[in-house]
Amino acid sequence: MSLPLVFIVAVAKNGVIGGDNQLLWRLSGDLKRFKALTMGKPMIMGRKTFDSIGKPLPGRETIVVTRDPAWSHEGVHVARDLDAAVALADQLGQAMGASEATVVGGAEIYRQLLPRAARVEWTEVDLAPAGDARFERLDPREWLESAREAHFRNLEAKDEADYAFVTYQRITNGLAPR
Ligand SMILES: NC(=O)c1ccc[n+]([C@@H]2O[C@H](COP(=O)([O-])OP(=O)(O)OC[C@H]3O[C@@H](n4cnc5c(N)ncnc54)[C@H](OP(=O)(O)O)[C@@H]3O)[C@@H](O)[C@H]2O)c1
Repeated sequence: MSLPLVFIVAVAKNGVIGGDNQLLWRLSGDLKRFKALTMGKPMIMGRKTFDSIGKPLPGRETIVVTRDPAWSHEGVHVARDLDAAVALADQLGQAMGASEATVVGGAEIYRQLLPRAARVEWTEVDLAPAGDARFERLDPREWLESAREAHFRNLEAKDEADYAFVTYQRITNGLAPR
């Protein structure tokens, strides 16, 4: 059986997730959660998101999706389409002993892979910045909020907003999978 695909995304109140190929906020707790949720797992990302990070992140297998046949980067797996990316994530994840494969953006990749996602780990960011990358609302007929954890900004860590970690499970046959 193939590994479930888990989205990890931080979304502002107005649906914005980024602008000018950058994240638009600093949230130390969210960075820690991102690390915890992705460590030891494959991560699928779009070429633009990879460019904004600039390097593969240690302890994870990075799969970059691009249509550019010439694109490559040391320490990174390349997929030319989404089917190839998902198949590779599954193969690498099984080899790593991971329980799931992750999808970490950006907007184009989330939009195209959402129908295949089993769970979304959503950080609700209490800001409404201008930006050009967005995440669509989840249809409540298809997604069930199964966990929520609210956090105040950590001023010592220079956090720029309050936030909440929210887990959505895809509803299958009227029941959310465990
Ligand atoms: N808040 C968050 O959680 C979060 C997470 C990640 C990213 N972001 C933000 O999202 C923004 C980037 O998102 P984006 O939508 O502009 O770009 P993206 O999804 O990261 O990357 C888009 C690129 O992926 C490749 N691609 C897309 N669909 C493909 C397909 N079907 N087959 C093959 N290749 C495909 C293309 O690369 P080529 O052009 O090379 O062919 C395309 O230009 C940035 O602002 C970033 O900071 C936010």
